[in-house]
Amino acid sequence: MDGLFEPDAEWERVTRTIRERGMPEISVAPGYGRLLTMLVAASGARSLLEIGALAGYSGICLARGLPADDGLLTSLELKPEYAELASANLAAAGYGDRSEMLVGTAADSLSKLEAEGRRFDFFFIDADKENYPVYLEFAIRLANPGALIAADNTLLRGRTLNPDKQGPAVQAVRLFNQTIATDPRLIGTHLPSYDGLALAMVR
Ligand code: SAH
Ligand code: DHB
Ligand code: MG
Repeated sequence: MDGLFEPDAEWERVTRTIRERGMPEISVAPGYGRLLTMLVAASGARSLLEIGALAGYSGICLARGLPADDGLLTSLELKPEYAELASANLAAAGYGDRSEMLVGTAADSLSKLEAEGRRFDFFFIDADKENYPVYLEFAIRLANPGALIAADNTLLRGRTLNPDKQGPAVQAVRLFNQTIATDPRLIGTHLPSYDGLALAMVR
Protein backbone atom coordinates (compact mmCIF):
# COMPACT_ATOMS: atom_id res chain seq x y z
CA MET A 1 0.00 0.00 0.00
CA ASP A 2 3.03 2.32 0.20
CA GLY A 3 2.39 3.44 -3.37
CA LEU A 4 -0.88 5.06 -2.30
CA PHE A 5 0.93 7.81 -0.40
CA GLU A 6 2.50 10.94 -1.79
CA PRO A 7 6.29 10.67 -1.34
CA ASP A 8 7.36 12.23 1.98
CA ALA A 9 9.63 15.14 1.00
CA GLU A 10 11.28 15.06 4.44
CA TRP A 11 12.04 11.34 4.06
CA GLU A 12 13.66 12.10 0.68
CA ARG A 13 15.69 14.98 2.10
CA VAL A 14 16.81 13.05 5.21
CA THR A 15 17.66 9.98 3.12
CA ARG A 16 19.83 12.13 0.86
CA THR A 17 21.82 13.29 3.92
CA ILE A 18 22.18 9.65 5.04
CA ARG A 19 23.54 8.58 1.61
CA GLU A 20 25.91 11.54 1.42
CA ARG A 21 27.51 10.38 4.66
CA GLY A 22 27.49 6.65 3.94
CA MET A 23 25.26 6.02 6.95
CA PRO A 24 22.94 2.99 7.18
CA GLU A 25 19.55 3.52 5.51
CA ILE A 26 17.52 2.33 8.48
CA SER A 27 15.08 5.17 9.12
CA VAL A 28 11.66 3.93 10.19
CA ALA A 29 9.39 3.02 7.26
CA PRO A 30 7.38 6.08 6.14
CA GLY A 31 4.17 4.07 6.65
CA TYR A 32 5.07 3.65 10.32
CA GLY A 33 6.24 7.26 10.45
CA ARG A 34 2.68 8.25 9.56
CA LEU A 35 1.42 6.01 12.36
CA LEU A 36 3.77 7.73 14.84
CA THR A 37 2.46 11.15 13.76
CA MET A 38 -1.11 9.91 14.08
CA LEU A 39 -0.58 8.37 17.54
CA VAL A 40 1.10 11.50 18.91
CA ALA A 41 -1.70 13.71 17.56
CA ALA A 42 -4.54 11.40 18.59
CA SER A 43 -3.21 10.86 22.12
CA GLY A 44 -2.49 14.55 22.72
CA ALA A 45 1.05 13.66 23.82
CA ARG A 46 3.20 16.71 24.59
CA SER A 47 6.48 15.26 25.93
CA LEU A 48 8.02 12.79 23.47
CA LEU A 49 11.08 10.61 24.00
CA GLU A 50 12.88 8.94 21.12
CA ILE A 51 15.64 6.38 21.74
CA GLY A 52 17.86 6.21 18.63
CA ALA A 53 17.80 9.30 16.37
CA LEU A 54 19.96 8.29 13.36
CA ALA A 55 19.36 11.21 10.95
CA GLY A 56 16.13 12.54 12.43
CA TYR A 57 13.41 11.07 10.22
CA SER A 58 11.40 9.38 12.99
CA GLY A 59 11.91 12.48 15.13
CA ILE A 60 10.37 14.59 12.38
CA CYS A 61 7.41 12.18 12.20
CA LEU A 62 6.94 12.37 15.99
CA ALA A 63 7.22 16.19 16.09
CA ARG A 64 4.69 16.44 13.25
CA GLY A 65 2.05 15.11 15.65
CA LEU A 66 2.58 17.91 18.20
CA PRO A 67 0.31 20.95 18.21
CA ALA A 68 1.75 24.05 16.52
CA ASP A 69 2.52 25.85 19.78
CA ASP A 70 3.31 23.20 22.39
CA GLY A 71 5.33 20.06 23.14
CA LEU A 72 8.94 18.89 23.05
CA LEU A 73 10.77 15.97 21.48
CA THR A 74 13.71 14.64 23.49
CA SER A 75 15.91 12.43 21.33
CA LEU A 76 18.71 10.13 22.55
CA GLU A 77 21.60 9.24 20.24
CA LEU A 78 24.90 7.47 20.87
CA LYS A 79 26.97 8.87 17.99
CA PRO A 80 27.77 12.60 18.10
CA GLU A 81 27.90 12.89 14.30
CA TYR A 82 24.45 11.28 13.95
CA ALA A 83 23.07 13.49 16.73
CA GLU A 84 24.37 16.58 14.94
CA LEU A 85 22.83 15.51 11.63
CA ALA A 86 19.51 14.60 13.27
CA SER A 87 19.41 18.01 15.00
CA ALA A 88 20.15 19.75 11.71
CA ASN A 89 17.47 17.75 9.89
CA LEU A 90 14.90 18.46 12.62
CA ALA A 91 15.76 22.17 12.40
CA ALA A 92 15.48 22.12 8.59
CA ALA A 93 12.02 20.56 8.96
CA GLY A 94 10.98 23.40 11.26
CA TYR A 95 11.31 21.61 14.62
CA GLY A 96 14.60 23.10 15.86
CA ASP A 97 12.94 24.81 18.81
CA ARG A 98 10.69 21.83 19.54
CA SER A 99 13.44 19.25 19.97
CA GLU A 100 16.46 18.53 22.16
CA MET A 101 19.18 15.96 21.52
CA LEU A 102 21.02 14.09 24.28
CA VAL A 103 24.27 12.46 23.12
CA GLY A 104 25.66 9.32 24.75
CA THR A 105 24.45 5.85 25.56
CA ALA A 106 20.68 5.82 25.91
CA ALA A 107 20.98 4.01 29.26
CA ASP A 108 23.07 6.89 30.65
CA SER A 109 20.70 9.53 29.27
CA LEU A 110 17.66 7.64 30.60
CA SER A 111 19.25 7.43 34.07
CA LYS A 112 19.83 11.19 34.01
CA LEU A 113 16.28 11.92 32.86
CA GLU A 114 14.96 9.69 35.64
CA ALA A 115 17.15 11.42 38.25
CA GLU A 116 15.80 14.79 37.04
CA GLY A 117 12.23 13.54 37.49
CA ARG A 118 11.38 13.95 33.80
CA ARG A 119 8.20 12.23 32.60
CA PHE A 120 6.98 11.53 29.06
CA ASP A 121 3.69 10.89 27.24
CA PHE A 122 5.13 9.02 24.27
CA PHE A 123 8.16 6.79 23.72
CA PHE A 124 9.68 5.55 20.47
CA ILE A 125 12.26 2.81 21.03
CA ASP A 126 14.53 2.26 18.01
CA ALA A 127 18.18 1.99 19.20
CA ASP A 128 20.39 -1.05 19.90
CA LYS A 129 18.17 -4.11 19.96
CA GLU A 130 20.09 -5.88 22.80
CA ASN A 131 18.85 -3.22 25.20
CA TYR A 132 15.15 -3.17 24.22
CA PRO A 133 14.13 -4.82 27.54
CA VAL A 134 16.16 -2.20 29.47
CA TYR A 135 14.58 0.63 27.47
CA LEU A 136 11.10 -0.77 28.07
CA GLU A 137 11.61 -0.78 31.85
CA PHE A 138 12.89 2.82 31.71
CA ALA A 139 9.91 3.83 29.57
CA ILE A 140 7.45 2.35 32.05
CA ARG A 141 9.20 4.17 34.93
CA LEU A 142 9.34 7.49 33.04
CA ALA A 143 5.76 7.25 31.77
CA ASN A 144 2.93 9.54 32.66
CA PRO A 145 -0.23 7.43 33.19
CA GLY A 146 -1.69 6.44 29.83
CA ALA A 147 1.58 7.05 27.99
CA LEU A 148 2.12 5.23 24.71
CA ILE A 149 5.19 3.17 23.79
CA ALA A 150 6.11 2.24 20.21
CA ALA A 151 9.13 0.16 19.23
CA ASP A 152 10.54 -0.57 15.77
CA ASN A 153 12.08 -3.79 14.39
CA THR A 154 10.29 -6.33 16.58
CA LEU A 155 10.61 -8.89 13.76
CA LEU A 156 14.37 -8.38 13.18
CA ARG A 157 13.80 -9.32 9.52
CA GLY A 158 12.11 -12.55 10.63
CA ARG A 159 14.80 -13.64 13.09
CA THR A 160 12.61 -13.24 16.20
CA LEU A 161 10.23 -15.90 14.78
CA ASN A 162 13.00 -18.28 13.66
CA PRO A 163 13.94 -20.78 16.42
CA ASP A 164 17.35 -21.37 14.76
CA LYS A 165 18.32 -17.77 15.59
CA GLN A 166 19.53 -17.34 19.17
CA GLY A 167 21.85 -14.32 19.10
CA PRO A 168 21.77 -11.68 21.86
CA ALA A 169 19.67 -9.17 19.89
CA VAL A 170 17.18 -11.86 18.92
CA GLN A 171 16.84 -13.10 22.51
CA ALA A 172 16.46 -9.57 23.85
CA VAL A 173 13.78 -8.62 21.32
CA ARG A 174 11.93 -11.90 22.00
CA LEU A 175 11.85 -11.02 25.71
CA PHE A 176 10.76 -7.47 24.84
CA ASN A 177 7.96 -8.78 22.60
CA GLN A 178 6.79 -11.18 25.30
CA THR A 179 6.69 -8.35 27.86
CA ILE A 180 4.68 -6.12 25.51
CA ALA A 181 2.20 -8.94 25.03
CA THR A 182 1.82 -10.08 28.65
CA ASP A 183 2.95 -7.47 31.20
CA PRO A 184 0.00 -6.43 33.40
CA ARG A 185 1.36 -2.85 33.55
CA LEU A 186 0.70 -2.54 29.80
CA ILE A 187 -2.02 -2.90 27.20
CA GLY A 188 0.14 -4.05 24.32
CA THR A 189 -0.04 -5.38 20.81
CA HIS A 190 2.16 -6.20 17.82
CA LEU A 191 1.89 -4.97 14.24
CA PRO A 192 3.66 -7.25 11.72
CA SER A 193 4.00 -4.83 8.78
CA TYR A 194 7.45 -3.76 7.56
CA ASP A 195 9.98 -4.98 10.21
CA GLY A 196 7.40 -5.18 12.99
CA LEU A 197 6.20 -2.51 15.42
CA ALA A 198 5.19 -3.01 19.05
CA LEU A 199 2.59 -0.70 20.58
CA ALA A 200 1.61 -0.42 24.21
CA MET A 201 -0.20 1.88 26.58
CA VAL A 202 1.08 2.18 30.14
CA ARG A 203 -1.89 1.72 32.48
N1 SAH B 1 14.81 6.22 14.82
C1 SAH B 1 15.61 6.46 13.63
C2 SAH B 1 16.45 5.25 13.28
C3 SAH B 1 17.33 4.78 14.40
S1 SAH B 1 18.59 3.62 13.87
C4 SAH B 1 14.68 6.78 12.49
O1 SAH B 1 13.73 6.00 12.29
O2 SAH B 1 14.86 7.78 11.80
C5 SAH B 1 19.29 3.23 15.44
C6 SAH B 1 20.05 4.38 16.09
O3 SAH B 1 20.36 4.00 17.43
C7 SAH B 1 21.38 4.69 15.41
O4 SAH B 1 21.47 6.05 15.13
C8 SAH B 1 22.42 4.30 16.46
O5 SAH B 1 23.59 5.11 16.46
C9 SAH B 1 21.63 4.50 17.74
N2 SAH B 1 22.15 3.74 18.88
C10 SAH B 1 22.72 2.52 18.87
N3 SAH B 1 23.08 2.15 20.11
C11 SAH B 1 22.72 3.16 20.94
C12 SAH B 1 22.82 3.38 22.33
N4 SAH B 1 23.37 2.47 23.14
N5 SAH B 1 22.35 4.53 22.83
C13 SAH B 1 21.78 5.46 22.01
N6 SAH B 1 21.65 5.31 20.68
C14 SAH B 1 22.11 4.18 20.15
C1 DHB C 1 17.89 -2.20 10.96
C2 DHB C 1 16.69 -1.54 10.79
C3 DHB C 1 16.26 -0.64 11.73
O1 DHB C 1 15.07 0.02 11.62
C4 DHB C 1 17.02 -0.41 12.88
O2 DHB C 1 16.50 0.46 13.78
C5 DHB C 1 18.22 -1.05 13.06
C6 DHB C 1 18.66 -1.97 12.10
C7 DHB C 1 18.33 -3.18 9.96
O3 DHB C 1 17.54 -3.47 9.07
O4 DHB C 1 19.47 -3.65 10.04
MG1 MG D 1 14.41 0.80 13.42
